[in-house]
Amino acid sequence: MAVRKIVTKESSILHVVCRPVEHFDAKLHQLLDDMAETLYKANGVGLAAPQIGIRRRIAVIDVGEGLIELINPVILKSSGKQRDVEGCLSCPDEWGYVVRPNKCTVRAQNRDGEFYEISLEGLGCRCACHEIDHLDGKLFLELVDEFVEMKEEEDTQN
Ligand code: NI
Repeated sequence: MAVRKIVTKESSILHVVCRPVEHFDAKLHQLLDDMAETLYKANGVGLAAPQIGIRRRIAVIDVGEGLIELINPVILKSSGKQRDVEGCLSCPDEWGYVVRPNKCTVRAQNRDGEFYEISLEGLGCRCACHEIDHLDGKLFLELVDEFVEMKEEEDTQN
């Protein structure tokens, strides 16, 4: 396992649509392991592959309920609304309120290529929406309705 370098918002890879994963092989497993290690090292709650320079539709999230590996994720349905402060490991020192759905159901593949569905709510839902946006080249900054100053890094960086 290895900690990968997290790129920042100026990096062009954060502004393009990522490609689907097609090969569920040892290289993918290594990448997923590295993404988890990178996420935990950075004290984040979510990390998308483009944030470490990989243009593939892969994200890992852990909002304190265990690691979830999302490969080729799609939001099947969402409901409700939540407005809370969000940050991003690729946008250090920028924080702001973003409105997201409160619940969502995501369909994704696991590291062996098997499809599964997961229902998420609250921070888990927020985080999944944020990471899936990354896979489409979108940063949370464009969704912020009010930027805020934060003194310390919080545990909500995605
Ligand atoms: Ni992010």
